[in-house]
Amino acid sequence: MILFFTFLSIITTTISTSTPTRSPPPFLYGNYSTHLNFQARNLSSYHINCGTSTNTTDNFNTTWLSDRYYTGGSTSVVSEPLRFNLPSEKTLRYFPSSSNGKKNCYSFPSLPSARYLLRTFTVYDNYDDKSRPPSFDVALSSTIIFNWRSPWPESTSRDGAYSDLFAFLTTPSAADLCFYGFATDAPIVSSIELVPVDSASYDSLSTGENLILVNYGRISCGSDDHFGPGFTNDTDKFGRSWQPDEAFRTGSEIAVRGLLTENTVNGTDKEPNYFPMKLYQTAVTSAEDELEYELSVDAKMDYMVWLHFAEIDSRVKKVGERVFDVFINGNNATRIDIYKEV
Ligand SMILES: *[C@@H]1O[C@H](CO)[C@@H](O)[C@H](O)[C@H]1NC(C)=O
Ligand SMILES: *[C@@H]1O[C@H](CO)[C@@H](O)[C@H](O)[C@H]1NC(C)=O
Ligand SMILES: *[C@@H]1O[C@H](CO)[C@@H](O)[C@H](O)[C@H]1NC(C)=O
Ligand SMILES: *[C@@H]1O[C@H](CO)[C@@H](O)[C@H](O)[C@H]1NC(C)=O
Ligand SMILES: *[C@@H]1O[C@H](CO)[C@@H](O)[C@H](O)[C@H]1NC(C)=O
Ligand SMILES: *[C@@H]1O[C@H](CO)[C@@H](O)[C@H](O)[C@H]1NC(C)=O
Ligand SMILES: *[C@@H]1O[C@H](CO)[C@@H](O)[C@H](O)[C@H]1NC(C)=O
Repeated sequence: MILFFTFLSIITTTISTSTPTRSPPPFLYGNYSTHLNFQARNLSSYHINCGTSTNTTDNFNTTWLSDRYYTGGSTSVVSEPLRFNLPSEKTLRYFPSSSNGKKNCYSFPSLPSARYLLRTFTVYDNYDDKSRPPSFDVALSSTIIFNWRSPWPESTSRDGAYSDLFAFLTTPSAADLCFYGFATDAPIVSSIELVPVDSASYDSLSTGENLILVNYGRISCGSDDHFGPGFTNDTDKFGRSWQPDEAFRTGSEIAVRGLLTENTVNGTDKEPNYFPMKLYQTAVTSAEDELEYELSVDAKMDYMVWLHFAEIDSRVKKVGERVFDVFINGNNATRIDIYKEV
């Protein structure tokens, strides 16, 4: 039973942007860093509502700061603001082509050395009446992290998408988030969040501090909804959101069976990764002896794969009752006997 995978791409030079499709809100934004141990170090988070001149607090007590730290550009409102529930999704900053060639950035003032989650929301929604979403690249402190290429998928263009990554900022130094338009295209951004996370998260003690982990996708097997901040009221202390797995399954669907429990799953929400319990409360299994997922990747990149398992089927009562091997690209990655591990 594969409970859930998360795929993170490790980037070196370039990376395809993750453009998760987005279903209707509501959401939970606030709170995800409030109770973590690094709070004791007084690290601050930034939640910047690009394109506005007022501070707002949403239903979840996240304070969105008025637009700041930018080096240029202009502001605008999406064409159908009523379709977006969060104030941070309705407005945007764009960097007109007249400013191409200049550095179009957000420069965060001197931040404490820490590992951060950087999350942006990007939506086009025909704000400029040109019916053509722009092509541009986004770089964090000189490393290209997201590529936006016209045409965008229709749902991304209209509903927007969150993109995120984990990176160490070794400071004190400013972090620059810069936007580079192609030809006459004007880069856009709706919100930017920079949240300190546990310094040991995602195996960083062994991968080192120079790696930037750009999120490829977070897939919750057996889940019907895209959940987490920006999508539902479910919490994730790192502000991650998780999408259903069905679109990624290949092979026969006949034998695939979803599992769901409302029982508490032990061992979740623990440092350093704080994976939410909801991830482990759904799963899929197969009556046949195979379950297969296909994810297209960029062969030039290195990827980090996290697989999460929990035995939530009460019919499995002892070691040896569910044993299987996980193959990635035909390579035998590991043998799993969940019951034995937990
Ligand atoms: C925010 O965090 C506090 C403290 O951990 C918790 O009591 C509260 O329920 C959280 N609020 C929401 C909306 O999750
Ligand atoms: C964090 O802030 C509190 C209150 O402002 C202060 O007492 C404490 O010393 C600070 N901690 C660190 C590690 O700076
Ligand atoms: C928004 O909040 C920040 C930080 O608390 C404050 O410095 C700034 O003056 C506020 N801006 C407005 C427009 O209220
Ligand atoms: C937000 O903060 C206010 C005052 O600080 C508090 O009364 C309210 O319960 C909080 N709401 C949530 C959802 O945590
Ligand atoms: C999410 O929380 C908000 C504010 O507390 C509430 O108005 C809304 O009904 C909740 N949505 C769901 C789907 O529970
Ligand atoms: C979960 O942990 C609690 C406390 O450690 C324990 O009492 C309970 O039996 C555990 N539940 C399962 C399903 O292992
Ligand atoms: C896959 O590797 C595991 C060891 O990690 C081994 O026990 C198992 O037999 C291997 N499976 C196959 C089909 O080779």
